[in-house]
Amino acid sequence: MPSSFPGRYPATRMRRARAHDFSRRLARETRLGVDDLIYPLFVTEGESLEIAAMPGVRRHTLDELMREITDVVALGIPAVVLFPVIDAGKKTPDAAEAANPDGLIPQAIRAIKREFPQLGVMTDVALDPYTSHGQDGVIDDDGYVLNDPTIDILVAQTLAHADAGVDIVSPSDMMDGRIQAMRTALEDSGHVNTLIMSYAAKFASSLYSPFREALGSSANLGKADKRTYQIDPANTDEALREVSLDLAEGADMVMVKPGMPYLDIIHRVKQTFGVPTFAYHVSGEYAMLKAAIDNGWLDERKAVLECLGSFKRAGCDGVLTYFAKDAARWLNE
Ligand code: PBG
Repeated sequence: MPSSFPGRYPATRMRRARAHDFSRRLARETRLGVDDLIYPLFVTEGESLEIAAMPGVRRHTLDELMREITDVVALGIPAVVLFPVIDAGKKTPDAAEAANPDGLIPQAIRAIKREFPQLGVMTDVALDPYTSHGQDGVIDDDGYVLNDPTIDILVAQTLAHADAGVDIVSPSDMMDGRIQAMRTALEDSGHVNTLIMSYAAKFASSLYSPFREALGSSANLGKADKRTYQIDPANTDEALREVSLDLAEGADMVMVKPGMPYLDIIHRVKQTFGVPTFAYHVSGEYAMLKAAIDNGWLDERKAVLECLGSFKRAGCDGVLTYFAKDAARWLNE
């Protein structure tokens, strides 16, 4: 029998608001939407091939890329980010191809902008797709990545992309001072509205290996790693300093990378700076989920939407994810 004696009932019943669909909807604090998604796409000069560790993700020829973009636009995804797969024969120690105004990425930007001027096009600014040694910059005899000489090439690469009509340049190299150099060069050349989304807090993660496989840079990199420029995964204050420097140098938006293992960083960045904050749900995270999904161990739709939703809860404004098309389809249903 119910009793009105004090202490007989929990003072607060948290389950009350969870009891109905309508009240769960009303109480929901964050929502993932199609507007939050950026879709990464690989474009190749060579053959169209699936990436072994990323089932469902391909290196696209330019023609295929345009078909993908048609889907992306139909789904309402606001932006794509492009990554080049460069012929091995064009890779050099100094990554000269990176700044070719008629290179693969400038060609892709022009083709997309011609047909879909309203779609946001973002490009990666870094040298690893173009270097014969697989590092994100030029190196000395000991293999050390040289900061300032690398920046000169990154600036040339930025301008090649900007001249082709890119909307957002996204430096993923982690050199010191590159945002300032890029911003100045963009202003000097009249590209005042080209946005910079900096990979501000990019960690030296093991979760990029499927991506490196896709680019063909892992074989070139060999046993070398990127720990002299990417952040130690054990650190958080250092990530905040990186973000604050990039913002002071002129970044419009910042990114944390990888994504899910670094939600604490995302949270701190958003709380500290209150700027447009993005996460890169990277190739290794895609591979982990896909492996479990393809084994029947996780429900794809539920697992993916929950994982992507966690970025919003942590404070992200958006997320770069290889699941963007699937997520958009589910969210549009
Ligand atoms: C290269 C770059 C990397 C990624 C994006 N840009 C790899 C790296 O730093 O080695 C990784 C993306 C992913 O794993 O999905 N500068």
